[in-house]
Amino acid sequence: MSANRPAAVVVLAAGEGTRMKSKTPKVLHEIAGRSLVGHVVSAARELEPEHLVVVVGHAREQVTAHLDAHYAGTRTAVQYEQNGTGHAVRIALEELEQTPDGTVVVVCGDTPLLSGETLRGLAATHTADANAVTVLTAEVPDATGYGRIVRDEATGAVTAIVEHKDASEAQRAVKEINSGVFAFDGRLLADALGKVRTDNSQGEEYLTDVLSILREAGHRVGASPAGDHREILGINNRVQLAEARTLLNRHLLERAMTAGVTVVDPSSVLVDVTVTFERDAVIHPGTQLLGTTHLGEDAEVGPNSRLKDTRVGRGARVDNTVADSAVIGDGALAGPFAYLRPGTTLGPKAKAGTYVEMKNATIGEGTKVPHLSYVGDATIGDFTNIGAASVFVNYDGEAKHHTTIGSHCRTGSDNMFVAPITIGDGAYTAAGSVITKDVPAGSLAVARGQQRNIEGWVARKRPGSAAAQAAQSTTGASTGES
Ligand code: UD1
Ligand code: MG
Repeated sequence: MSANRPAAVVVLAAGEGTRMKSKTPKVLHEIAGRSLVGHVVSAARELEPEHLVVVVGHAREQVTAHLDAHYAGTRTAVQYEQNGTGHAVRIALEELEQTPDGTVVVVCGDTPLLSGETLRGLAATHTADANAVTVLTAEVPDATGYGRIVRDEATGAVTAIVEHKDASEAQRAVKEINSGVFAFDGRLLADALGKVRTDNSQGEEYLTDVLSILREAGHRVGASPAGDHREILGINNRVQLAEARTLLNRHLLERAMTAGVTVVDPSSVLVDVTVTFERDAVIHPGTQLLGTTHLGEDAEVGPNSRLKDTRVGRGARVDNTVADSAVIGDGALAGPFAYLRPGTTLGPKAKAGTYVEMKNATIGEGTKVPHLSYVGDATIGDFTNIGAASVFVNYDGEAKHHTTIGSHCRTGSDNMFVAPITIGDGAYTAAGSVITKDVPAGSLAVARGQQRNIEGWVARKRPGSAAAQAAQSTTGASTGES
């Protein structure tokens, strides 16, 4: 592979993308958790080029900031006016200190499905055939708008690329198109770019003209057909954006299934490129797995769950749950209907049950928060049970405070834990308590009004009522009626 390591990869991303009808630059639109240009840069990085240059123009501040934030080490070259793909590559080469001595790969920033593997194949063919230029081609069902590959009738050798707008009827009938992806000899490319003219229908410097210039100078020109034409799908509008999303999603799920993951209904599951799985994980319908989410062996997620940057342990069960930046331990349970917010860690075999919200909370091994509770800014030890409908009262209106509960505690239902507070190991709290003071280990805390029964009250105060009659039939007391 290192033999085919290119001197540079140039990504063309200066265009506006008007058909997106968006305030976001086209190449920053996302599919599967990555921007369009991010997909291309990621594929380009698989080639381990010495230099990776992205040509920016339209909304360059935004695009550059995005690249700096997520793709450090990427260089940008500014093309102030979009005078064509040849002009863009010329500017990219000027950005480098010297003309690259070796292969220069050129790709467009709006082809997110292009794989590193295809790029590697192109670079390998280019080197093996000792070509001056090798173009990645594809046969597409509808070639309208694409540059057509013109071949010599006798030898089949590529002679030129003709843009759709400049093509004759006969040339337009050609189904083999220019994908916009090339491998060039760096020095010959730099030299040929100086000879590209603008006498075409768009008055632009076409990169595609380099092919015929090199051929006419007696250099070898080659073509490498793409295995799957869908890989070179260029995104120009939001219909194509969704189409690419569907294709990529299907590809990602197929890769997961091949690796031993069960996807019950692939059409209703969405995954990002950065999601990882272990074998025998199961994904139920209506599930979105986003960011760096990881499913451990035998983990089961869904139906109807959305997990972002969340780690699901082995054998854990996650049902109808929304989680963001959470860790769900081995054999733990979340849901149905749990909301795990950033900083939640469920220990092994712990439980965040139905209508339970957690945030910045560490829940120990085997500890259960089964029903209708809010646990915020808390640390709970092992094998503790939190009663139903409890609230960790963490916010005094100004600052957030922490609650610590020990191991093997039993807290009653409908408790308020007014932070900051600490409850020791093995302690109990009574149902309905508002706990405002620390509870020592092994004690029972009762923090509620004492119950008082006023006997005969109904008969006296609600004489003749249905309640009074019901009471009378069980107790034999007077109904209060005279
Ligand atoms: C180009 C090719 C065409 C090919 C098609 C594949 C040329 C002349 N034509 O046509 O043969 O079939 O791609 O999709 O190369 N860009 C810049 N600066 C510019 C012009 C373009 O950075 O001055 C960038 C665009 O942002 C885009 C890419 O280059 O990412 C391709 O440009 P575009 O205008 O889409 O070219 P096409 O007409 O599609
Ligand atoms: Mg295009």
